[in-house]
Amino acid sequence: MKKEEKKNIFIDELINKMTIEEKIGQMYESTYTNGFITGPEFENDDVIKLIKKGLVGSIIGQYDNEVIYQLQKTAVEETRLHIPLFFANDIIHGCRTIFPIPLALACTWNPKLVENCAAVAAKESRNSGVQLVFSPVADLARDPRWGRVMEGYGEDPYLASKMTRSLIRGYQGKELYNENTVAACVKHYAGYGAVSGGRDYNSVDMSLDTFYNYYLPPFMEATKNDVKMVMTSFNTFNGIPATCNSFLLRDILKKKLKFKGVVISDYTASDELIKHKVCKDEEEVAYKSIMAGLDHEMVSRSYINQLKKFSNDEKILNYINDSVRRILNLKYDLGLFDNPYLGIHIDFEKYWLLPAYLDQAYLAANESITLLENRILPLNKEDHVLFIGPFIDTKRLVGAWAGKVDHNYCKSLIEELANTNYHYDYFKGCEINSDFNTKGLEEKILKNDKIVLLLGEDQWESGENKSKTNLELSDIQYQLLDYVIKFNKPTILLIHAGRPLILSRIKKLYEERKIDAVMYNWFLGTMSSKSIIHTLYGINNPSAKLTMSFPYNVGQIPIYYNHLPTGRPKENGISDDYRTRYLDAPNDALYPFGYGLSYSKFIYKNLILKSEILEKELSFSIEVLNDSSYAGYETIEVYIECMNDIVSRPINELKNFKKLWFLPHETKVVEFVIKRNDLNYVVNSKNHIACGTYGLKVGPNSIDTIVKYFTVK
Ligand code: GLC
Repeated sequence: MKKEEKKNIFIDELINKMTIEEKIGQMYESTYTNGFITGPEFENDDVIKLIKKGLVGSIIGQYDNEVIYQLQKTAVEETRLHIPLFFANDIIHGCRTIFPIPLALACTWNPKLVENCAAVAAKESRNSGVQLVFSPVADLARDPRWGRVMEGYGEDPYLASKMTRSLIRGYQGKELYNENTVAACVKHYAGYGAVSGGRDYNSVDMSLDTFYNYYLPPFMEATKNDVKMVMTSFNTFNGIPATCNSFLLRDILKKKLKFKGVVISDYTASDELIKHKVCKDEEEVAYKSIMAGLDHEMVSRSYINQLKKFSNDEKILNYINDSVRRILNLKYDLGLFDNPYLGIHIDFEKYWLLPAYLDQAYLAANESITLLENRILPLNKEDHVLFIGPFIDTKRLVGAWAGKVDHNYCKSLIEELANTNYHYDYFKGCEINSDFNTKGLEEKILKNDKIVLLLGEDQWESGENKSKTNLELSDIQYQLLDYVIKFNKPTILLIHAGRPLILSRIKKLYEERKIDAVMYNWFLGTMSSKSIIHTLYGINNPSAKLTMSFPYNVGQIPIYYNHLPTGRPKENGISDDYRTRYLDAPNDALYPFGYGLSYSKFIYKNLILKSEILEKELSFSIEVLNDSSYAGYETIEVYIECMNDIVSRPINELKNFKKLWFLPHETKVVEFVIKRNDLNYVVNSKNHIACGTYGLKVGPNSIDTIVKYFTVK
């Protein structure tokens, strides 16, 4: 008998034995005391009682193996049908070994590396007794005021889709019944990155074509890659909260995308339907949620408290049976019916933070560091360097949502420097937003050759519910920066942040040669400090490229590279007075999508199209020279621009990229193929490929490209 048949027979027989209460119980995810929670605290003392009645399907927030074992034992041994729980956690950039924040990982433009990071996170999670992770975060983001941009992969649907795919493959591997893989839950469905004003939890309104062309593609990619769960977002989507939005859950996800996994709410998002004013009470919450297609309710209890009332309605009973089947399918795929204790070890430490995992975190950090400006790096080991700033002695370099980070493995910068034979000294100068104190600093500056200044925002200033209207460095930090540059020493600025900050003042100081390099270090995880030092001293050659546009100021937001041209675009020869622009700021980003420097110098030339007509596909090549003595990675980016269509089309659309290693002075001829389907664009909710002229743009970023044209017949 085939595996699938065996599974279906097992699940059919089990469902037939279940009472309506037991069925509804599978649809509830509870917290448990001492768990890591991310929303309102709930009384947990009754959870054991509920488990024994078969009224809990899963637990969120537990990392304690002993607690997980006891809860699972209760469910398996003390319930009528012995249905095991599954345990879920927010592991979005590592479980014990922490990788760079997802927005930094996206800047690696290295899907295989990201997949390898996810595979490590899966091993550590499963061997922590966790079978499902609430990742990938596929929220397209164009607004750095929104603190959750740190959790996602930036502003482009193609790149975000690649990253989403990589994470799911890394987490889920080939099959889930083993100690090396976990089920993935893609979130937050849908449109969450477009919250109005960049304010978390706020409303989202967009045209369906914008939804289909920008915000849906990463979720489509997730369902194509067999993601096991989808989490609904807190926001309303065109007026209806995602958690009870049947257009999103039933029409698009379950029907159009044929998603067979489990739809879970975000934390208490179903109860919040009352605050959204679309439900008058918990009973209506249960009704609207099941009708819309919610299968598993996180922490709120509308289902276990109210859903039974509607179970005489055949349609709702069918919906309940469908939800229960989806949940039991997941548990079966995880092997929980065969071995509910798989991965729950007493000697669990031996499964975590292995040297190979730390190496993976180091490699990921190396490829996430983004070099924005440079005229003097790398440093020489003979240099006498003074490290200054609030980030020199902190271990808080792992970022928000850092799983169950073990800070004993996270070294501060000065702790890591102590492992080197470099000539260095250090001086804090201030905290992130306080304690300015330069007493004794002048003497140290005068004694050293170069300055490395570490500034930025705290790791907890980004993440959930961390929206900001001011994205500048703090006044205290600018005070320290102004003090330091007075000495006219070669100065390197390192910035830690979970989002694009406003760097126009920094860029101006660079242009005035007051500072001589700017490196964006995001939050790089457990191996942050080693990677930063190795990059400063040239052991690592930075290669990351931005996946979110950096605005000149907050007034430019939302700013993104793939915007429409307008009827008065920036064009040579058109008077300033009559083109789309601001009076007080440029149109373009300070640092554009796809931008990032290297110690190498890459020169692009000879874009050659094999044909100027695209029928089914078009091959082309570009010549790239590493005109330097530094070996390093370069990501070659491929964009198209549809020059004429029935709707106005973006000035740029990323359609391919390759990240290649170049030896010093090496030239590569890099080949690509663009297929007809790559040109798909949704118009009036339908797939559509425009015939006519397209620009093909190839280069190191979204601005500095070589352009040739082809025609689609
Ligand atoms: C939080 C977040 C979500 C997380 C969930 C469980 O509020 O919105 O990303 O997975 O609750 O912690």
